[in-house]
Amino acid sequence: MQLAKLLFTFSLMVALTSGKLVKIQNNRADGILLTLDGTEYTVLPNSLIQVTLADNWEGSLSAVPIGSEVTNGPKTKVNFAFSDTEDSYSVSLIEGFNLPIKVIPNDSNNCIVSTCAANILRACPLDKQVANSVGDVVACQNSPLVMVRLCPLAVVDELSSTLNTRHCNSATSYMIFRSLVLLVVVASSIGKVIKIKNGYSTDLLISIDESQYIVASNSLIILNPLNEWSGSIKALPVIAEVTTGPKTAVNIAITSTTDEYSISLLDGFNLAAKIVPIGSTNCTASVCAANILQACPIEDQVVNSTNVVVGCNNSPLVMGTLCPLAIVDADSVIQNSQVCSNSTGYMILFM
Ligand SMILES: *[C@@H]1O[C@H](CO)[C@@H](O)[C@H](O)[C@H]1NC(C)=O
Ligand SMILES: *[C@@H]1O[C@H](CO)[C@@H](O)[C@H](O)[C@H]1NC(C)=O
Ligand SMILES: *[C@@H]1O[C@H](CO)[C@@H](O)[C@H](O)[C@H]1NC(C)=O
Ligand SMILES: *[C@@H]1O[C@H](CO)[C@@H](O)[C@H](O)[C@H]1NC(C)=O
Repeated sequence: MQLAKLLFTFSLMVALTSGKLVKIQNNRADGILLTLDGTEYTVLPNSLIQVTLADNWEGSLSAVPIGSEVTNGPKTKVNFAFSDTEDSYSVSLIEGFNLPIKVIPNDSNNCIVSTCAANILRACPLDKQVANSVGDVVACQNSPLVMVRLCPLAVVDELSSTLNTRHCNSATSYMIFRSLVLLVVVASSIGKVIKIKNGYSTDLLISIDESQYIVASNSLIILNPLNEWSGSIKALPVIAEVTTGPKTAVNIAITSTTDEYSISLLDGFNLAAKIVPIGSTNCTASVCAANILQACPIEDQVVNSTNVVVGCNNSPLVMGTLCPLAIVDADSVIQNSQVCSNSTGYMILFM
């Protein structure tokens, strides 16, 4: 009897100690209130807490900044499903977004990070925004179109659920540690700033993926910190008659390590443009400053109804000569894609 009880206690202890360790690091400048398995934990700024969960635990984790007025709004979630053979996890925006979160598996060499690091709040469509009483957007309801672009590694809809739910079954990790350490980082949303300046004497309609902004003549807009974002920025005079013609593209891909950017004329030219790294002394600007419209071969010209050339289709010979730092064909893609690893942002100028 006694022995059986002892054995039972012993095996219970083993079961408990072989649970899975989840460390939660708060990289923000303010504290967060974390909800995990129905329990709330306070995680101070720049600190770490550690929770051991059962080997077969299934559930989710979410957080709100301490003192947040909106506590029942949409929240970024981390979903876990642990088992003896395989763990699944994902950063999910199915129920919306409030904080950037990253899940990093440790003690393993074949498991992949799951993350949504972009500041979705800045790009949230108007009808999906959840604001506090002073009008700050503090959460964003599920908006797959925007979210899939800004957080390509998160679960935002059915398709990305299959694609972006990570499975981890590192044999060594299970054999040796019988536990998987998952570090969940609730990140501060510090990323790169993108400034867009309209140097023309006419108002421009700037399009960035699905979003459009009107930027008045000689003024500037600032897009707040972007992390792990890639996209294409184009512009068109607000009064333009031809809206579907060729356009100069400013391409940027921002990652946590190296950024890549270029001025591309592969889809043609309409406005002179420049992209300049901010805060870095050794990275190179990319530019096409020439008036390609005046030199555009007749067969590539796009004209409006008063017969003024307003766009020029891709013409590598002319474009490569006048804008030697822009991408005009396959060769110049390699030559003229700039990389930069220590800028704090980018200034884009249509001029
Ligand atoms: C990740 O694993 C290594 C090796 O086991 C360990 O030294 C390190 O502290 C772990 N990191 C975290 C955040 O647990
Ligand atoms: C054609 O383009 C020129 C140059 O942008 C502009 O001045 C003119 O008003 C345009 N014509 C029409 C009909 O929009
Ligand atoms: C970027 O790197 C260059 C070259 O090492 C250095 O001079 C510059 O200070 C760095 N800038 C930043 C913002 O770290
Ligand atoms: C600029 O300097 C940083 C830091 O020294 C370096 O990592 C990066 O490769 C440099 N970039 C270029 C384009 O030389």
